Order: sequence, then C-alpha cells, then structure tokens
Amino acid sequence: MGSEKIMTFDKNRFFRNYLKRKLEAGEKTIYLPFDNRAEKKIAENRPVAVEPLAIEDFAKTETLEQLYDTIKDCRMCPLGATRHRFVFGVGNPHAEIMFIGEAPGHEEDMKGEPFVGRAGQLFTRALAAMGLRREDVYIANILKCRPPENRDPLPEEAETCEVYLLHQIALIKPKIICSLGRIAAQRLLRTNMTLGQMRERWFSLQGTPLIVTYHPAALLRTPDYKRPFWEDMQKLLSRLKELKSK
Ligand code: URA
Repeated sequence: MGSEKIMTFDKNRFFRNYLKRKLEAGEKTIYLPFDNRAEKKIAENRPVAVEPLAIEDFAKTETLEQLYDTIKDCRMCPLGATRHRFVFGVGNPHAEIMFIGEAPGHEEDMKGEPFVGRAGQLFTRALAAMGLRREDVYIANILKCRPPENRDPLPEEAETCEVYLLHQIALIKPKIICSLGRIAAQRLLRTNMTLGQMRERWFSLQGTPLIVTYHPAALLRTPDYKRPFWEDMQKLLSRLKELKSK
C-alpha cells in the first residue's frame, strides 16, 4: 500500500503565514470582515473564522489592472469562499458603452468571464447585430462572485461588492451604462420599480446616462422580449450618437 498523506488545514498557521506575507510586502492595514471577535482571537492565538483580505486602497487604484490585482482575492463576503473564479469584467477599458448584469452564473464562475453561458452567448450575438464586439464594450456584474444555485444577490453581498463596480465605472468613464435586467437596475438605482417601470426612460448613475433593458436570460425564456430589447438597444445607440455629436 502506498503511503497516505493526511491533509489538515491549520488556520492558525495559515493566518500567521498570511500576516507574514502581508508584513513582508509592507502592508499596514489588514481587514477582518466577518469575524467581529477576530482581534481578540488573534491576540489569544485562536483561529479566526474567515481568511482576511487585503482590499485596502482599492479606491485609489488608477487602472483596471491595478484594481483587478487589488481585489481579485476578495473575501469580503462569503461568496469569496465558494467561487471558482473571480469574475472581474471584460472589454475595452475605455468603452463608450458599459453593460452591467447581476452576478456570474455557473459558466462564468468556471471561466472567470461575465456573460459566457447560454444567455451570454445570446447577448454576444445581440452585440454583433448592433455592430459591436465584446471587446468594444465593457461587461461586468453587480457581484464578482457566483451566488450558490444562482440565487439573487443578497443585499449585503451587493453592498459589499458594488463599491468595486462603482470604481470600475469611474475608471472606464463610459458614455452610457446599460443595466441588463431588473435586479442590477434596482440595485444601481436604489429603487423597487419594476422592469416595466424602468424601461424606456433614462436614468443617471454618477452623472452617466443609464438605460434599463431585459436580462438576456429573460430573452431565452421569453423570445417575445427580443423585439423590445432590440428597441432598447436602438435607443441606446442613438443616444450614444447624439452624445458623441455634441
Ligand atoms: N447573468 C448575469 O447577470 N451575469 C452573467 O455574467 C451571467 C449571467
């Protein structure tokens, strides 16, 4: 019989090594988001409940690459422990149009890229019909990690993660934002309005015009939504043209 290796996870050792790495890297601030008794536990050399994370200064990052490097190991909410991949966002860092969905699904979680599953493929085809490639626009989600069983984001998850998205928007400076679906729009606009109430009008997010349309998954479920979705996209393109001609 071959020798059997028994793996154990020693949180104290993990944490000591983590702190050592952080201190060696010259970092002074270490966040312990979930375990509010963590400080006492550390003082007593007892295990803490959640792996800490360095997210300090993410808001000071000046490029998407820097932002990504700063937040990619985020453990600020429990989804950090269940994700396969951190789904930061893709596209042109100077995109004129930014699309924002809800949260990664299974395919996105496995690939680390938003909107690559069945709904994403439909969305990519819709972009192509608008004369756009994925690389021309920017695509991101409210949450960067997949909620288990694709449930809706919890308010505390959205609250924690949304700050990253807002910083992403500030760095990209799109001319137009398009919210894909009700959940993302309700979160971004702090409203309980229905999708029907939000469609066909313009909102403003951080001074950027924002339009709300159907989530691509809704188009898969209800093909009748494809026509109004397409009308929304035409509206978006003509507003963009108008903005660029000013
Ligand atoms: N649904 C979303 O809202 N975002 C994705 O990235 C994939 C599916």
